[in-house]
Amino acid sequence: MKLIIDTDPGIDDAMAIAYAAAAPEIDLIGLTTVFGNTHVHQSSRNARFLLDKLGLAAPVAEGASYALGQSHHTPSEHVHGPEGFGDITEIPEIGTNHDLSAAEFLVETARRHKGEVVVCAVGPLTNIALAMQLDPEFSRNISRLVVMGGAVYCPGNVNHHAEANIYHDARAADIVFATPPETVLVGLDVTLKTLYETADFEALAERSRDMGGFLRDISRFYLKFYKEVGGLEGCGLHDSTAVIACTHEPMFDMVETGLSVVTEGPEFGATRPDPSRPSVRVCRNVDGAGVVHLFTERVASLP
Ligand code: RIB
Ligand code: CA
Repeated sequence: MKLIIDTDPGIDDAMAIAYAAAAPEIDLIGLTTVFGNTHVHQSSRNARFLLDKLGLAAPVAEGASYALGQSHHTPSEHVHGPEGFGDITEIPEIGTNHDLSAAEFLVETARRHKGEVVVCAVGPLTNIALAMQLDPEFSRNISRLVVMGGAVYCPGNVNHHAEANIYHDARAADIVFATPPETVLVGLDVTLKTLYETADFEALAERSRDMGGFLRDISRFYLKFYKEVGGLEGCGLHDSTAVIACTHEPMFDMVETGLSVVTEGPEFGATRPDPSRPSVRVCRNVDGAGVVHLFTERVASLP
């Protein structure tokens, strides 16, 4: 499977990119970057750093700095740290970004490999909305869109209503869901059932000294947030669960519904079932232990 991950790395994004590199079914043909956990230039630097560490030559195409119609963004430093990798703040600039913007790269690559490319969006959906606006054929040219985002039948993580990726660009998400490509939504409804704990990171680092050790090191900040703010003994494998949904759909129970996103007022960023809109497949349950095991076994195979 040809896969492009649209990402705001970000600690769980880094875990998902490592998983994609280790998964034998996945040909990671590019990363497109977006603001979110980080400023977009940090997302791009972190993406290039990860690909270099993983020994992958895939391009990194930089995307949106801000939500549609906005000219400012405050990264989630309290969750992912000042540079997006928790306590690790010295991250070198390795290589350069692709000449195309994220939206242009998504459109061009989908056009070149019609029907073959799965796009897994694990940050705000700004680049996806821009690609749809840039090329009306984009949605038909990709195989499908898998989105880490939303909290359809459960509370959000930004507030009771909203999940972070949708909240960071509610307008872009609503544009995407208004005329969606074939889409699978992997929201908090399932990603909070795939918690990864300190012991899991330590065991992973024993088996994968370099990459597993790096993920263990950057996760400490993230685990501390989940414990102190979320009262949880582990962190959600949010983005890795979405990447796993690209290749292991039988591990998920899905329902079909249209979706709309609240774009103003006190419930801003909420993702709501909307029967008036084209259906997407929303994950309602998951084999959480199976996802955690699959993630561990694959990433443990890395150096
Ligand atoms: O709500 C979780 C999502 O927001 C994940 O993609 C995480 O990386 C943050 O971007
Ligand atoms: Ca993310």
